Amino acid sequence: MAISSVLLVCSLLFVFCPAFAVDSKNNPADKLVAVINANRTAGKFTVLFDNPGLGCIALQYIKGYEGQCSEVGDMKKPPDSDFADKFAPNCGVLAQTLTPITGRFLGCQSKYVSPDKAFSSFIIQNSESLKILHDKNHTEVGAAVSGTDGGSPYFWCVLFSNGKRNSSFAFENGQAKSVHPGCFSGNNDECSASTRLAISGCGIWPLLAVVFFGVLYVL
Ligand SMILES: *[C@@H]1O[C@H](CO)[C@@H](O)[C@H](O)[C@H]1NC(C)=O
Ligand SMILES: *[C@@H]1O[C@H](CO)[C@@H](O)[C@H](O)[C@H]1NC(C)=O
Ligand SMILES: *[C@@H]1O[C@H](CO)[C@@H](O)[C@H](O)[C@H]1NC(C)=O
Repeated sequence: MAISSVLLVCSLLFVFCPAFAVDSKNNPADKLVAVINANRTAGKFTVLFDNPGLGCIALQYIKGYEGQCSEVGDMKKPPDSDFADKFAPNCGVLAQTLTPITGRFLGCQSKYVSPDKAFSSFIIQNSESLKILHDKNHTEVGAAVSGTDGGSPYFWCVLFSNGKRNSSFAFENGQAKSVHPGCFSGNNDECSASTRLAISGCGIWPLLAVVFFGVLYVL
């Protein structure tokens, strides 16, 4: 009896949470940037350059949370020095090309949702986040999406900067380094196969934690 209950739950989980994967044509980080730019354009704000160096740093930013959704809710964030000391080197981004972060969104949710749903349901939540989205200081953006150990919870990170498009967040050899797991924007990443944002099954994370920061971040 007990065993059949377990089997029932397992098969229900399987039915409702099919495994799927996101490939390069379907990079959710690129899609999120497209949604952000569409919203800015519709509001007559400038289109932001999708900087792969900044995108890769957004993915590193997520990794700093080690899958702990609750720490997002606690407003815990990595120290500023991590950008130059950890995130940039991990991405092969030249530390001297880092420019100030002019805004950031970080969201974490147990369930994987599409980028436009993530945007409207929890990334942009209130007038404060709209202000960050529409800030005139931004010139470029980078986004990243990552599941933990290939599963729930899913982190979404967007970083904005006011740097120049081809001199900020520059890669050592001029080419985006491949950093996985997870997906980041701007790099034609083959976010697929073993390197994809592998998503399978359902997590049991009951948490939805979203934090917004609009502060200038001096490096
Ligand atoms: C945007 O720029 C203005 C003027 O330089 C500055 O006062 C303001 O703090 C900046 N905002 C952000 C979010 O960086
Ligand atoms: C931008 O996104 C926000 C949040 O989803 C929405 O309320 C607003 O209508 C959008 N603006 C435009 C111009 O589409
Ligand atoms: C900067 O980017 C523009 C447009 O992509 C390009 O035309 C220009 O040559 C670049 N400048 C440098 C110094 O790389």
